[in-house]
Amino acid sequence: MCGIVGYIGPKEKKEILLDGLKELEYRGYDSAGIAIIEKKKLNNFKAVGKLENLANKTKDYHSSGFGVAIGHTRWATHGKPTELNAHPHLGEKSFVVHNGIIENYQELKHKLQKSGVTFVSQTDTETIVHLFEYYQKQNMQAFEAFKKTVDELEGAYATLLISEVEPDTIFFAKNGSPMLVGFDAQDIYFASSDTPIIGKAKEVYYLEDGEYGYAKDGVIRLYNENGEKAFTKQPLSKDKASAQKDGFRFFMEKEIYEQSRVMSETMMGRVNDDSIYFEELDSEFLKDISAIKICACGTSYHSALASSYLFERLARIPCVVEIASEFRYKEPLLDKNTLFITISQSGETADTLEALKMAKRAGLKSLSICNVDNSSIVRESDKAILTRAGIEKGVASTKAFATQTMVLWMLSVYMASLKGTISQDVVKGEIDAMIHTPKALLVNDDLHTKIHRLSKRYLHGHGFFFIGRDIFFPLALEGALKLKEISYLHAEGYPAGEMKHGPIALADSHLFTVALMPRTIHYEKIKSNVEELSARDATILAISPLPFNLADDFVQTHYDSHPMLEFFEMMVITQLLALEISVRLGNDVDMPRNLAKSVTVE
Ligand code: G6P
Repeated sequence: MCGIVGYIGPKEKKEILLDGLKELEYRGYDSAGIAIIEKKKLNNFKAVGKLENLANKTKDYHSSGFGVAIGHTRWATHGKPTELNAHPHLGEKSFVVHNGIIENYQELKHKLQKSGVTFVSQTDTETIVHLFEYYQKQNMQAFEAFKKTVDELEGAYATLLISEVEPDTIFFAKNGSPMLVGFDAQDIYFASSDTPIIGKAKEVYYLEDGEYGYAKDGVIRLYNENGEKAFTKQPLSKDKASAQKDGFRFFMEKEIYEQSRVMSETMMGRVNDDSIYFEELDSEFLKDISAIKICACGTSYHSALASSYLFERLARIPCVVEIASEFRYKEPLLDKNTLFITISQSGETADTLEALKMAKRAGLKSLSICNVDNSSIVRESDKAILTRAGIEKGVASTKAFATQTMVLWMLSVYMASLKGTISQDVVKGEIDAMIHTPKALLVNDDLHTKIHRLSKRYLHGHGFFFIGRDIFFPLALEGALKLKEISYLHAEGYPAGEMKHGPIALADSHLFTVALMPRTIHYEKIKSNVEELSARDATILAISPLPFNLADDFVQTHYDSHPMLEFFEMMVITQLLALEISVRLGNDVDMPRNLAKSVTVE
């Protein structure tokens, strides 16, 4: 979740970079850095912590005359937030900034180390600059060396590189991470989203995956696998608020679409070929843990509930989940060998924080799973695992839920491995499914169009039941919560097998049932439950990889090789359904009535 800014031209470069990075600071703020070449000379500044530290460090520096400049604000993924790990990364004569993950960086690093290159950081990014210089020293022109470097990179990246070898050029490449080029006469800007260059550039070109090239003398030369490419600039929006939405109508919509990408960040460095690793934890911390208690509120509670199935099934550890506001006043019996986990997007939810303090007073070990570093809950916990979803602006939580659930899934496999409750084959199967999760989270146009179309049938009626079994029950709760939060329609999540114990009395054609029907968990059982509802004329929207004849509406899923892949694909569908219904009803999707993003009061 880092941010990039670049500039080539005669203006004051430090100000352009710092100004632009300020707009991106919400994406990552554990360190920042800039590199500027003017009069053929490189200048570089880095600082740990917020951008103001970098601003203080550079207050006596001013660039003058024509030059090239790149800057970066970082959210640590590979390597701790230190100055050495901050971007831009230096080779002998070149600097690079990068967003994303170079998946084959270890391989590239070994190759470069063998040829005598010394690495100073723990980052994947540093390989880019050394690889460039490695080729450049083999008598290649700078651009040829850059192209060769980009050809070797696997993974997601948006990168800018400058070098004293060609001091009037910025080299760029994009694959999987966002990057755009802004134009104002001869001045050229780069950024990872448009807010840093609004008010500066007048036109923009949004780079596509697989594109790379260089900027020099006021022009861009752009290439892809087919060679040089013509491109069309478009006017740049003047409105920063709408630009932050990256072209989406709502932050929630943007965040739904982002889930696929942020999930890779959540897994980075933690999901390896044949094991799960958390640098935040050690086996000593988990020694003697014989049970887990999880406390959370709202969406985070649903994520917790889903994970309780995984902790018990995979790690064979009893796991109880409680709503924090209930837990606080029930005079709970707490056992010292219970690991107390709190889950919170914001890290500030008052009830969750108080529950954590109670558990600490009772002498329990505490672990928080949170999206905000240095938040109250993170500071209060013995250990914390960050979900790395990036800032979530929509009040109705989407990517925070997805990443919390992923961390909990990883944690259940990690603890299962430590306890030896699952075989290496099972670990590999789980890891394989994790690696496929970003694909299951991708939203394609057909799916979104279909949900937009069918949403019009679901604007009235006397209520919704979302039903599911096993982990799909908490997902049903979450689907119903999303819908009520932003549509203001009455919706309930229910365990499918419980419908016949009461709620089925409500069934008639005005009762909408959203049935989560995964192939991998109890398909036949949930099918019978849905048939019972259909027999009472309930209107049924079935979500399943298997066609279901009795459904009034059917959304087919595709990732059905593992329950969690089914979970995540169905999650996206329920989020889009809530979104589209809310839009049709004319509601404020991002700021629904009566709700707050962070509830710091009881
Ligand atoms: C509020 C928000 C919910 C959120 C809940 C818990 O009610 O509106 O979206 O799920 O708080 O928040 P937390 O930050 O602790 O996850």
